[in-house]
Amino acid sequence: MDIHIDLKAGRGLRDEIYRQLRAAILEERLRPGEALPPTRELAQRLSVSRNTVSAAYDRLGAEGFLTTKTGAGTFVRRGSARPSPPSPSGMALNPVPVWDEVPELPRRFAVHPAYDFRAGAPDVTHFPFDTWRRLVTEQLRGSRAEVLTYGDPRGHAGLREAIARQIGLSRDIRARPEDVLVTNGSQQAIDLAARVLLQPGDRVAVEDPGYPPPRHLFTTLGARPVPVPVDEEGLRVDAIPDDCRLVYVSPSHQFPLGTAMSLARRLELIAWADRRDAAIVEDDYDSEFRYTGRPLEPLHSLDTTGRVLYVGSFSKVLLPALRLGFLVAPPNLHKALGKARSLTDWHAPTVEQAALARFMEEGGFTRHVRKMRREYQARHETVSRIVRRDFADHLTLVPSTAGLHLTARSRVPSRPIVQAARRTGVWLYSLGDFTAKRDALAGLVFGFGAIPLGKIEPGLARLRDVFDVQG
Ligand SMILES: Cc1ncc(COP(=O)(O)O)c(C=O)c1O
Repeated sequence: MDIHIDLKAGRGLRDEIYRQLRAAILEERLRPGEALPPTRELAQRLSVSRNTVSAAYDRLGAEGFLTTKTGAGTFVRRGSARPSPPSPSGMALNPVPVWDEVPELPRRFAVHPAYDFRAGAPDVTHFPFDTWRRLVTEQLRGSRAEVLTYGDPRGHAGLREAIARQIGLSRDIRARPEDVLVTNGSQQAIDLAARVLLQPGDRVAVEDPGYPPPRHLFTTLGARPVPVPVDEEGLRVDAIPDDCRLVYVSPSHQFPLGTAMSLARRLELIAWADRRDAAIVEDDYDSEFRYTGRPLEPLHSLDTTGRVLYVGSFSKVLLPALRLGFLVAPPNLHKALGKARSLTDWHAPTVEQAALARFMEEGGFTRHVRKMRREYQARHETVSRIVRRDFADHLTLVPSTAGLHLTARSRVPSRPIVQAARRTGVWLYSLGDFTAKRDALAGLVFGFGAIPLGKIEPGLARLRDVFDVQG
């Protein structure tokens, strides 16, 4: 541990070193058992004589703060700390009011319930850890300077190429590698799109019910989100205010309802954007997992005017922790997006980007998607079957053939059910968690990404008990 010691002019050097080390030990900034730097090294760093440092160490040793092990060094003695001093009140600075609208820090995945039906979490246990370790190790061999220094803000060239190829095949997105910007998850893709397309005060249409993080993000950027209702065909284009500059939608698998936007509605949305000179951000966060039928063409492929920015994520197909996603944008935004990206955080970690590029080139990615699709399909079928069989009195499933969650409308208020279920170890979201006005709709969102197949039936049996008690 590199301990910081600040030698002020006019004070005794030995006393000052002693005093600051003693304070660090008492406050546990230096922890019990931790090694102190050798006297020679600290003396050199502080430009003082070695005797000065030794004298400070000797005094701390004599007072019982340090112990010396011959040949090993000097260590903080156990039991020499005292409870941390009270921290400063921390009340001097306040965030700007806009942050009041952002709900709690998203710590919800720090909890590990017995039956985890929370939407948004994929199954991380099936990730090909050994392959990934090999791929990352290859990048860390040290001879690959281009991977280990600052990289292109728009992303690792190999990964941009692999993504363009992948979405060309699997989603019929016609994109060149230079159209692809690698991001830290889809949230950053949406952030960058908003930064280059919106001015403070601009109105942005968001789905209601919808995925809340982009809505809060738009607010923090000074834009004004407008919730627009969703029906069985998707976002109600006739309800979008004329002056919206951007529309954020999830047409492949509407979050949270799970429906696909109809072709007619897709065409209507593109025509609307063209008429109103607006942009569309198409969030395609989990469409790798489609279980029946052919997917409808993405807005990006239907659009001939260059108004659609397509967003994808590796959070659901691989791991949320990778924080990798991408944005496919029209050419006249490339430069602005690259600049915005470099100003935000320069670029995504290159080692992981390069490892992912190899994973995709080697075919590991496609194999993993296939394997997970089979796995999730079984869970999708199980949840659908049990909800239809055991909850028909209260719940009606919204038809959905893709993704990692299913939603059911409820005939009874769902908030009390969700709260009571939590107390029995069954965690799921209420549809009202995703409406602009909290609890405007009653329903339950059954995520099945995180729950193993064998736990679905017992988990839903517990939920049934909750309905019986509450009902
Ligand atoms: C609608 C929607 N978009 C995107 C994401 C993924 O976000 P990210 O790629 O930032 O992890 C999620 C995850 O829950 C989601 O539900």
